[in-house]
Amino acid sequence: MKRIVCLISGRGSNLAAILQAASAERWRVAVPAEVVAVISNRADAAGLAIAAAHGVATQVIEHTRFSSREGFDAALAEAIDAHTADLVVLAGFMRVLTRAFVARYQGRLINIHPSLLPAFPGLATHRQALAAGVRVHGATVHFVSDVIDGGVIIAQAAVPVLPGDSEETLAARVLGREHVLLPRCVRWLCEGRIALVDGRVQVRDLPGESLALLG
Ligand code: GAR
Repeated sequence: MKRIVCLISGRGSNLAAILQAASAERWRVAVPAEVVAVISNRADAAGLAIAAAHGVATQVIEHTRFSSREGFDAALAEAIDAHTADLVVLAGFMRVLTRAFVARYQGRLINIHPSLLPAFPGLATHRQALAAGVRVHGATVHFVSDVIDGGVIIAQAAVPVLPGDSEETLAARVLGREHVLLPRCVRWLCEGRIALVDGRVQVRDLPGESLALLG
């Protein structure tokens, strides 16, 4: 059984997508994997109620209680390790992690970012995309490295940017694809079809085009 810990900061719609996929009979049988805990750095994260509704253990570790990033990350690591996690998924987790934390979970720490990296790292990605005038935008799942939004890319989903799009309409279009992309990546990692080997993604028993969700 692969043990997954999800870290969140807010709404939790990506978490919900993972939980729905994981509880589908198909996934339970094919991939023995389970979300064993959800940890939030914010007590008011709506995703905590989503986790609880799925019967998943929740924990809040408020970053504001710590005077340093190192202190917060150490508490976070302790909580994750208490669940003996095989995979740690940043599902809308909005904290920068220290180098030591990232190194500790190398190859088993992934993030979803709402842009086609390396374009538009950081915040307000949909605003950045509209300002740049790109016609294709999307989301990326990547292994986390100590470069913010700079880790090895696992898979991407693309959407068109339509004339008249606002940040909100574009965000909603991207989010819909995030909810397909992230559960797939989590599943593939649990199945051992994807791994980080020598700084590159190694793919096994998976059509290469699966890693690019187009349209
Ligand atoms: C998602 O769009 C995710 O890609 C983004 O935050 C949102 C969380 O929504 N993550 C980042 O920007 C990470 N830098 P959710 O809480 O509904 O899943």
